[in-house]
Amino acid sequence: MNQMIDLFEKHFHRKPAVISRAPGRLEILGNHTDYNEGFVLSAATEQATRMAMAPKSGTVCTLADTALPGSFTIDLNRLDAPVKGDWTNYIKGALVELNRRGLKFGAFDALLSSTVPLSAGMSSSAALEMAFCFALKTIYGIALPNADWARVGQAVENRYLGLKSGLLDQFSSIFGKKDSLILCDFRTVEVLETVPLPSGYAFLVANTLVKHNLVESDYNRRRESCERARDAIAAECPEVKMLRDVDHALLERFRDKMDAVDYRRALHVVGEDERVMQGVECLKEGDVAGFGRLLFQSHESSRANFENSCPELDALVEIAHTLPECLGARLSGGGFGGITIHLIRLADAETCRGRLETAYKAMTGKEIRTILCAIGDGASAVAL
Ligand code: GLA
Repeated sequence: MNQMIDLFEKHFHRKPAVISRAPGRLEILGNHTDYNEGFVLSAATEQATRMAMAPKSGTVCTLADTALPGSFTIDLNRLDAPVKGDWTNYIKGALVELNRRGLKFGAFDALLSSTVPLSAGMSSSAALEMAFCFALKTIYGIALPNADWARVGQAVENRYLGLKSGLLDQFSSIFGKKDSLILCDFRTVEVLETVPLPSGYAFLVANTLVKHNLVESDYNRRRESCERARDAIAAECPEVKMLRDVDHALLERFRDKMDAVDYRRALHVVGEDERVMQGVECLKEGDVAGFGRLLFQSHESSRANFENSCPELDALVEIAHTLPECLGARLSGGGFGGITIHLIRLADAETCRGRLETAYKAMTGKEIRTILCAIGDGASAVAL
């Protein structure tokens, strides 16, 4: 906090009015279920984006990122189009969304500093959006329920940037709870339960460094597949609104009425919803091994059914099966690159990390970046 204040003062020669913090997230179980109105077990990470901000007059805002030289400007009167590859798109998109909702705000100076790895599957973009929104709402007194702040972030991705993502990333960044997983329901858009991670266990994250650019990936096509599978069932079962309403038996009944690829996509989503609920039961019963097996099953379904894995992610999960310290592993997030998460015994963390890195290098000739990820609290802002 003091460091953010110092950095802001150095850059802008005045004091910030607020410091906000929004974490990255780990999708623990429940892959591509959010936009099907299903369930996800997720966690906020200790890695977070922090923003120091102060209001100013006029329409020109200045932004600085401690990881980049110089500063960036945004004119509140010129927010129209995103510029490809520009990180300020996430800020501009949020401002466009606030305008669309008729909410009032003015200009600002802002400084950000982030420990969330970029483009890795830990939702650095949601962390940036939420850190910005929480800072802005504090200095301009913008009143919105927290779930709506998540919707603002989702709309930045959906409308401004063209990625048809669900609410998971922003929602987890806001509602995460220290040392716990949150069970999210994306129909009612609420946290159903907070489930403590059994003590003595942790998540080791392995970043494949394989480029993870969801906008240009098959993400939107996966979502369309899910919707077509839903439509095939809803044509005869109008009570089915989303894949959330479909169980295995119902999906099988309609298997011949949908495209074979769409069927496999839906099979993944239906299976994930079931695994999330089984996972919660395992954790409540203290069956960490059973929980780990569900992570492995989830990855296998991603690989075979949803086809959102890649050889690097598969290699990491294959190695995980051979490590006695690792109880389960899977890709986490959109997929097509990015990260795997490994449920490990905390006492064996360094052994496990070393073995994973060495085995991966031997298998693929490539490096990974590993992070032992502690679970933190959701977004907050402190007015100074
Ligand atoms: C990305 C999206 C989320 C969610 C996951 C997959 O992280 O942003 O909305 O769909 O992929 O579960």
